[in-house]
Amino acid sequence: MAVRGKLRLGVNIDHVATLRNARGSAWPDPLRAALLAEAAGADGITAHLREDRRHIRDEDIDALMAGIRVPLNFECAATDEMQAIALRVRPHAICLVPERREERTTEGGLDVAGDQNRLAGFIAPLRDAGCRVSMFIGHDPRQIEASARIGAAVVELHTGHYSDLHAEGRTDEAEAELEALRKGAALASGLGLEVHAGHGLTFANVAPVAAMPEVVELNIGHFLIGEAVFMGLGSAIEEMRRRMDAARQPGAGAVA
Ligand code: PXP
Repeated sequence: MAVRGKLRLGVNIDHVATLRNARGSAWPDPLRAALLAEAAGADGITAHLREDRRHIRDEDIDALMAGIRVPLNFECAATDEMQAIALRVRPHAICLVPERREERTTEGGLDVAGDQNRLAGFIAPLRDAGCRVSMFIGHDPRQIEASARIGAAVVELHTGHYSDLHAEGRTDEAEAELEALRKGAALASGLGLEVHAGHGLTFANVAPVAAMPEVVELNIGHFLIGEAVFMGLGSAIEEMRRRMDAARQPGAGAVA
């Protein structure tokens, strides 16, 4: 049985930029949030530069690269524009996500299996530039196997559906989704992929995902930034960290 090692927490600061952009002002500053997250124990900072620049902007990415000490996980769509930016910036990690203009957030996983040849060519220069490339995918074995075939280093498993089921109190379905995520994590790890997970994670639903031994990193944003309104960003991150670590302990529960 796989042993649960230390789990990294990547804090996604996109929605600090959402709040800033709502007023067209300079605050709240995403870099300041990233530095606070770092001080509160974040192991990395994640930022998604969307094609429509609805939250993070190009200059935020430059400021984060210059200002933070922990690694930056640069999320983007697999487009020529984003590839050029990634090659200029050279972040520690690049997470490729599907993007549709009309969606509220990243709604599904990337179709790696259906776009293998293009994606293999897309990630090759990023890998050569020294970036760890991650595919944001569902737990479908075809997508996991395709990610391994094209030479991705990492897969990030989409926990959004599990999070929705959990929030709606559909316990049996949430448990079935968790089981599929567990199988996906084991398959990916067996294929030599590093396994991350994220989307929709909260204090209430994080434990069973954090308990998956193959998962080495969680990326969490919207809930933490929202919770910061009530308890402060540092405290929200510390509490998430505490819950993640508790779930990693031997014998910790792993049910939804
Ligand atoms: N991981 C990926 C690839 C994402 O696209 C997002 C959302 O931007 C997250 C994690 C974080 O999701 P949430 O904001 O719901 O915590």
